[in-house]
Amino acid sequence: MNLILFGAPGSGKGTQSDLLVKKLGMIQLSTGDLFRNAIKNKTKLGIEAQTYMDEGQLVPDSIVINMVEEMLLTGVSNFILDGFPRTLAQAESLEELVLRLKINISKAIFLDVPSEVLLGRLTGRRVCTKCGAVYHIESKQSKVEDVCDSCGAELIQRNDDKQGVIQARLDAYQNFTSPLKEFYKKSGRYIEVNGNRNTEEVYQEIEKIVK
Ligand code: AP5
Repeated sequence: MNLILFGAPGSGKGTQSDLLVKKLGMIQLSTGDLFRNAIKNKTKLGIEAQTYMDEGQLVPDSIVINMVEEMLLTGVSNFILDGFPRTLAQAESLEELVLRLKINISKAIFLDVPSEVLLGRLTGRRVCTKCGAVYHIESKQSKVEDVCDSCGAELIQRNDDKQGVIQARLDAYQNFTSPLKEFYKKSGRYIEVNGNRNTEEVYQEIEKIVK
């Protein structure tokens, strides 16, 4: 099954995608991760994307859509789209793309988390500089402070998780991404999951939907 996982920044898209990858062998297609890798490798795409990301703005649709088209053209299947689409223009382009490539995306799962909870999740998140593993200073601590359990590299705060940038990301979500709920309701693929529970409970519900 191919699915879209969407929700506000910090709603748990990455955490849940990671579990679907580990437990069900699905493939995570995260536009945010692709941009972060491009920035790390100082590619043209990374240089273009960095200014927008550092300010908490969305990367322009044309850049993102081309990137997703390239991924889907590889023939990937059993995937989770994490962080895409994020605007109506992206959602419409995706419809056109999947039709052309004869890909079926049967569900669009929305992770519902109240905004006051999102703030705490984002400010407390720490990520591994090497393998990208995600932690939280309260809900998912590493065994040794600021050291990744999986690979031993340093844990840091994402640039866009700094207090000043978070509000811009939440505004971008409110203005551009939240209208996608109506879009997917109309297409009959919308499923809402309460993301304000512990990670395992949220996962169990998503797994049921996927299976
Ligand atoms: P992206 O990386 O996609 O960021 P995001 O959507 O803001 O989502 P996050 O990664 O912040 O959160 P998440 O929902 O994955 O939460 P997580 O699981 O980590 O995009 C970054 C930027 O790239 C964008 O701002 C934009 O500039 C650009 N971009 C990307 N895609 C784009 C697109 N399509 N169009 C245009 N621009 C695009 O969890 C967060 C924290 O909470 C973690 O610490 C975790 O441990 C904790 N946590 C998770 N679940 C739970 C739980 N159930 N209970 C308690 N804690 C939990």
